Amino acid sequence: MEILRDRSLRAYNTFGLPCSVRYYAEALTADDLREALRFAEEGGHPVLVLGGGSNVVLPADFPGLVVRVALQGVELLEDTRDRCLLRVGAGEDWVELVEYCLARGYFGLENLSLIPGTVGAAPIQNIGAYGVELREHFESLEALERKTGRIVRFSNPECRFSYRDSIFKQECRDQYVIISVTLKLDKRPALVTTYGALEGELARMGITDPSPEDVSRAVSNLRRSRLPDPAVLGNAGSFFKNPLVPSEVFSGLKSRYEDLVAFPGPENLLRLSAGWMIDRAGWKGVRKGAVGVHTEHALVLVNYGDASADEILDLARQIQASVKHTFEVQLEIEPRVY
Ligand code: FAD
Ligand code: EPU
Repeated sequence: MEILRDRSLRAYNTFGLPCSVRYYAEALTADDLREALRFAEEGGHPVLVLGGGSNVVLPADFPGLVVRVALQGVELLEDTRDRCLLRVGAGEDWVELVEYCLARGYFGLENLSLIPGTVGAAPIQNIGAYGVELREHFESLEALERKTGRIVRFSNPECRFSYRDSIFKQECRDQYVIISVTLKLDKRPALVTTYGALEGELARMGITDPSPEDVSRAVSNLRRSRLPDPAVLGNAGSFFKNPLVPSEVFSGLKSRYEDLVAFPGPENLLRLSAGWMIDRAGWKGVRKGAVGVHTEHALVLVNYGDASADEILDLARQIQASVKHTFEVQLEIEPRVY
């Protein structure tokens, strides 16, 4: 494996942020990863693990080693009448994997169509969309422990998945590199079409008895109409999480804002729509220099060309302060900020 010097990561993050890195390597195997980590350890260099770069805010300079996880391969571990187990290399592309599964009749991922990034990053924040989260089809993963180089298996409960969260963002943060993910998929479709916008889109398409392919198409239509394509306008998807609040807080806000949007959360809590609050606070479409709030979705911050991480984070702080002032709710940033 080649370790390259002085590279730019602008093309390797969907925000399109400039980021100069001292060392850069692409790991195709677990041994490549071990070699890269040994190199960093011996040189005393900090390490940043990168997948598709679609959920990161990168710094202008990273004075260490960036390792891009590029392990490939899809392996059918079990195949019965009702379900199958698929082990997928962490560097495989998530969007292509969803298409691969649909084409073979392995169902369950259709609501997660078109989410950019790698398979290995999907468990980090338990990716979710249109009523489905990764954890519902996640069996286990294999990860390389950064300190020792040994391979460890994590079962579904051991990953401690919750909304946009897992053990890898908490106590195991920066301790493991995920090398493969095993998914459990249905051979008989069990469609989830209850998410309001998805129901609406299927109706608009004139579909009353949808197939998994129809659901995938409807989700793709919605995503294309609401979210900017990073190839055209730099972004990292939702910039903030939807905050969870107790029902008293929700009722207090609802009495002041009749059209407040919220969804049921766990344990009688409610998940407020951060996009609605940012929109209502007047931020939708606001542009400040090279950064802005997307014109079609207030939860998405965008790079109009040559933005820096500092400009994005400065805009994010202004939005957080404004939402806090208006709704007394603290917004938490979703992507990983380095
Ligand atoms: P990266 O951005 O490269 O990395 C993200 C984090 O994971 C970093 O901290 C990195 O160190 C870590 N990481 C990456 N790979 C590994 C690995 N193999 N082992 C250990 N750590 C690793 N997310 C959703 O949940 N739902 C959505 O609907 C959604 N829509 C999006 C739409 C757009 C237009 C964009 C740009 C993003 C969207 N996202 C969404 C966010 C993003 O797609 C997901 O978080 C995705 O899983 C990130 O994958 P990645 O490979 O790009 O990760
Ligand atoms: N809304 C507004 N104004 C806006 C945007 C949204 O009022 O500018 C309101 C609308 O009422 C809309 C509601 O917010 O119906 C919800 O919007 P949307 O369906 O787009 O969902 P979201 O809560 O904003 C979440 C995820 C997305 C995921 C979609 C679909 C988070 C932080 N974001 O967005 O995930 O694709 O649901 O399930 O949970 C991501 O994580 O990067 C991401 C894009």
